[in-house]
Amino acid sequence: MIGTVSFHGASVPPDNLLEDVVAGLSLARKQLPPKYFYDAAGSELFERICELPEYYPTRAETELTRAHIEAIAAFAGTNVELIEFGSGASSKTRILIERLRPAVYVPIDISEAALTLAVHALAGAFPSLNVQAVVGDFARPLTLPRFDGRRGRKIVYFPGSTIGNLTPEEALAFLRMTRGLVGPDGAMLVGVDLKKDANVLHAAYNDSQGVTAAFNLNLLKRINRELGGDFELSRFSHYAFYDPHAGRIEMHLVSPERQTVRVGRHRFSFDAGESIHTENSCKYSVAEFRALAEEAGFAAREVWFDSKGLFSLHGLLSS
Ligand code: AVJ
Repeated sequence: MIGTVSFHGASVPPDNLLEDVVAGLSLARKQLPPKYFYDAAGSELFERICELPEYYPTRAETELTRAHIEAIAAFAGTNVELIEFGSGASSKTRILIERLRPAVYVPIDISEAALTLAVHALAGAFPSLNVQAVVGDFARPLTLPRFDGRRGRKIVYFPGSTIGNLTPEEALAFLRMTRGLVGPDGAMLVGVDLKKDANVLHAAYNDSQGVTAAFNLNLLKRINRELGGDFELSRFSHYAFYDPHAGRIEMHLVSPERQTVRVGRHRFSFDAGESIHTENSCKYSVAEFRALAEEAGFAAREVWFDSKGLFSLHGLLSS
């Protein structure tokens, strides 16, 4: 039997790279949104990051998903509407779909190209799966298409510790929005990277092959290409550190020297040592994340770990 694959358009305005870049580089503390890392080259670099010996989160989350799949399935229930925030077609999603056999799978992604690739790969692997892909920004409130037929609960799957890109305050608002989306009987499965030895964290974002540096610098390449920028990549350096008080990795692109950069008709000057803050990657203790989820109105019911205790997957119920 051949499953159905449908695409639904975004119900929100699309991204505006130019507007966001100009706004971010005009701040006293320059910053850029991490969602713009993921053009074609950036997505490929991220896939390479996931394979790095120092970058443990992907391996740990895949391992824990396999190891605890029966408990995860028991938590999720049957005949569910499985909604995924971010890229589909990951190996973790496959493990989940294979066991859950959801009534409908709703991947939501901002990149139509990435979504199309992911959806076709998944539809090939699971021919009877009903896929309703939504092109949109899951970070903003969004209305999902209504699907026919009786089914179980709505459950949002948000793996990879992407939630770590948000500050705890932003994550709280995000969890509240997700709770609204899944409704009173809904649930959420969210992957969260754990606090640990700062040296382990530091190494994960400062790999010896320089792939993370290339991933960070690719943002400037993208701006050059798409917005007519003139960033010289050799005049910026990747800098990532763990701040144990804030509980987060910060990634920056540092300008070692004074320079002026043009983006379209805009000019931005950098003092020697000034940086662009490109990403936060917040880490949580189990207790901290559960408290945040409860504050958002979820009941933090379950938590699973990999064998080394590096990463967590939380099962939250909207009750
Ligand atoms: C995809 C946001 C989870 O924060 O670890 C990897 C992105 N940045 N190396 C992370 C990332 C640098 C990643 N997330």
